[in-house]
Amino acid sequence: MNQLAEKFSEYFHLTPAAGAAAPGRLEVLGNHTDYNEGFVLSCAVGQNTAIVLSPLPGTQCRVMDFRENCEMTFDLADMDAPPPRNGCAYIIGMMNEMRKRGCVFNHGFAAGLESSVPLSAGMSSSAALETAAGFALGKLFNFSLDKAEWARAGQGVENNFLGLKTGLLDQFSSIFGKRDAIIMSDFRTVEVIDTLPLASGYVFVVINSMKKHHLVDSDYNVRRENCESAARKLAAIYPGVSTLRDVTPAMLESAADKLSRMELLRARHVVNECDRVKAAAAILRAGDMKAFGRLLYASHESSRVNFENSTPELDYLVELSRTVPGCIGARLSGGGFGGISIHLVEADAAKEYASRVCTAYKLQTGIDAEHFICSIGDGAKIFL
Ligand code: GLA
Repeated sequence: MNQLAEKFSEYFHLTPAAGAAAPGRLEVLGNHTDYNEGFVLSCAVGQNTAIVLSPLPGTQCRVMDFRENCEMTFDLADMDAPPPRNGCAYIIGMMNEMRKRGCVFNHGFAAGLESSVPLSAGMSSSAALETAAGFALGKLFNFSLDKAEWARAGQGVENNFLGLKTGLLDQFSSIFGKRDAIIMSDFRTVEVIDTLPLASGYVFVVINSMKKHHLVDSDYNVRRENCESAARKLAAIYPGVSTLRDVTPAMLESAADKLSRMELLRARHVVNECDRVKAAAAILRAGDMKAFGRLLYASHESSRVNFENSTPELDYLVELSRTVPGCIGARLSGGGFGGISIHLVEADAAKEYASRVCTAYKLQTGIDAEHFICSIGDGAKIFL
């Protein structure tokens, strides 16, 4: 943060007046359950996006991205224009959401931005940017929201400004993450309902398949529609059902003939995934890491056959995890259709494990996979 403040001062010849940092996140278990008002296990990662700000007279906003070494600008008068094709889209989107909630932007600002969250790696670099921007802008413009509402504002950027019908998971985890813990969240009440330990001696290794197919956004939105139409049909059979969160696996199977094949498969994934998350809480508390690992594998298998959001590359990474020593569970993580896999690995074996999986992956696919050994960090904070 100090370094960022120094770079900012050197570049803009201004003293920073506000600053905030927000981490990326890892979806540990609970795939596509958030927008079905279900349960998710997630954590904030050690990598952050940080922003410092100073007020500027007039309506110009200057944003210097020190990672890319490029400056972007926009004018307060253009906030309603379609999103620009650069990082400012997330900042302007957040400002729009803040404005809807009563924040007044009566002058421009200079912003310095730096991030260690890998881009397009399934660790929610966009949520980290939205959250850091929101927190820092809130400080500069004397505006605050409660934490869950900040998460909704970040989700609003995706839903209303960028056209992605994503749930709350990414921003929520970036805000509520706790160092060295896995948080269990309920996306109906929108709160953290449990904080669980990851047994010492294990780490998450993230391996990026480096493949993301083009239609990801529309695939995501279509999956969400399938889930919602399944819930509507089930609600007509079972009073009291409003989302898939309210459906048990037995209820679903006995109403199977009332749903289209797609609706049934998508709902099967979500409904069983919620059960897996609930089961995982007790398992983690008991420290039964092997049982937890089996839940990760079961989640991946359900993504592969029911939700159909895996890819041959992700399947191959998960298959490799069963043959390279050290790993006790693996799955795709995040939206899917490419992106990252997470592997629960004995800490001592993690380095060797990651390099052996990446070597085998390269031999099979020709692709150099990125990998990270994840540390679990705290949620977003205002530091200036
Ligand atoms: C993406 C979305 C989240 C969540 C996951 C799948 O990361 O942004 O809201 O739906 O996919 O669990």
